[in-house]
Amino acid sequence: MSDERLQRVLSCLSPVARQLDVLPSGRTAPDTPYVKLDTNENPFALPAIVMQGALNALERQYLYPENDNISLRDAAASAYGVTTDHVIAGNGSSELLGLIYRAFLAPGDRVAMVSPGFSFNRKLAMLQAADFVEVALTDRHSLPIEQLLSSPAADTKFILVANPNNPTGLFVPVADIERLVAQSDRLIVLDEAYVDFAPDNGLRLLNRYSNLLVLRTFSKSYAAAGIRVGFGFGHPELIGRLRNIQNVFNMNVIGQAVGISILAHRAAYEDNHRHIRHERQRVTAELSQLGFSVTPSHANFVLARVPEGQDGRWWQAALEKRKILVAFFPDRGLENCIRVSIGTKSQMDAFLVAASDISTRLETRHC
Ligand SMILES: Cc1ncc(COP(=O)(O)O)c(C=O)c1O
Repeated sequence: MSDERLQRVLSCLSPVARQLDVLPSGRTAPDTPYVKLDTNENPFALPAIVMQGALNALERQYLYPENDNISLRDAAASAYGVTTDHVIAGNGSSELLGLIYRAFLAPGDRVAMVSPGFSFNRKLAMLQAADFVEVALTDRHSLPIEQLLSSPAADTKFILVANPNNPTGLFVPVADIERLVAQSDRLIVLDEAYVDFAPDNGLRLLNRYSNLLVLRTFSKSYAAAGIRVGFGFGHPELIGRLRNIQNVFNMNVIGQAVGISILAHRAAYEDNHRHIRHERQRVTAELSQLGFSVTPSHANFVLARVPEGQDGRWWQAALEKRKILVAFFPDRGLENCIRVSIGTKSQMDAFLVAASDISTRLETRHC
């Protein structure tokens, strides 16, 4: 296509599409030679029985997957104590977040999120040409309920709360979530992507409140990020509308089978979750020794403020030179932080050795 023709094509795109950055190709970041601690995966193999379910599903590769994910939704409904009509299943919870924005927002509408939060939401709001209102979490231990109940958050179509939150890892009591849901006449989207690493969850609130949608994923606590399994739970009036706009055959046969099998074998993950909590504590303690200030986390990652006078982006690059990938966020207030996913013991050893080595070199440089 000639450049002139391309320019004509681009100028006809929607204002939202014109606003989008053109992404450069992503870098490949396979497990090796990198220690990949930047996207909060769970680095362990699936339990053998779940793996067998995936292999069996491959034998049905010539068929379309089951329509409407009905068996998976049935299985999730009985595992979590709701009816099938209360459940939607998706290719990860990010697919479900996308549906919520598309179904419930029109251009010019507002949506609110407790901030700092999962930045993908900002892009989803932008795609709907919606206003994105960020309500700062000022107290580590409780939700800013008054601000969420007053303007501008109160004038939104829905309010997003992630608990535990990403990228902070902070967990607020479910009683706080309940106060918000009970006092708001807005839809509250409670994103519980990391909740299996936390002491409590908000699913029981569904019995009492119809203005709540709870999102879950098997990417973090069930080691299935590459398979893409997520769920939304809520009133059938909301869930039915979301299912209505979902692609037919949105999930594949392997995702459906693995989802069902994980639901049947959740107890097989107890050691996995114990390991994550243990390593989280070890990494928190050792980073603190190195002068980092680590936010208390209830997720499978920690947010660590680098030592006084140092810079988060610099640390991310210094670790990457040592083949360790961690996340950095340029957002205000996070410039001096890195987020480190909790991996295997040997991955965390490698990270801690690299962090200690970088610290020592910095200290000797300053002497
Ligand atoms: C808070 C939160 N919600 C949702 C997701 C999406 O996860 P997935 O699409 O893998 O289910 C993530 C992933 O990092 C997340 O951090």
